[in-house]
Amino acid sequence: MATLVIDGQEKEVADGSAIMDACEDLGVLFGCRAGQCGMCIITVTEGMENLEPPNDAERDLGLDDDQRLACQAVIRSGTVRAES
Ligand code: FES
Repeated sequence: MATLVIDGQEKEVADGSAIMDACEDLGVLFGCRAGQCGMCIITVTEGMENLEPPNDAERDLGLDDDQRLACQAVIRSGTVRAES
């Protein structure tokens, strides 16, 4: 299992799974859920290496190096800490 910590709240997620549902449970707001609106941007403060690399939708939005889309990111394993 991997661990996702958003704004200090923690949730376990399966290795290799999308983080969207867990992020929603932890209070991240979503819009399109398709990588287009940017509403779900989170700022990763620790463990970026534990996420799969950004996908095309994330790259197309031109996110900062420490930002990811909660609706697109997939966790590999370990712990990822982020702020919404
Ligand atoms: S909810 Fe729109 S980009 Fe994630």
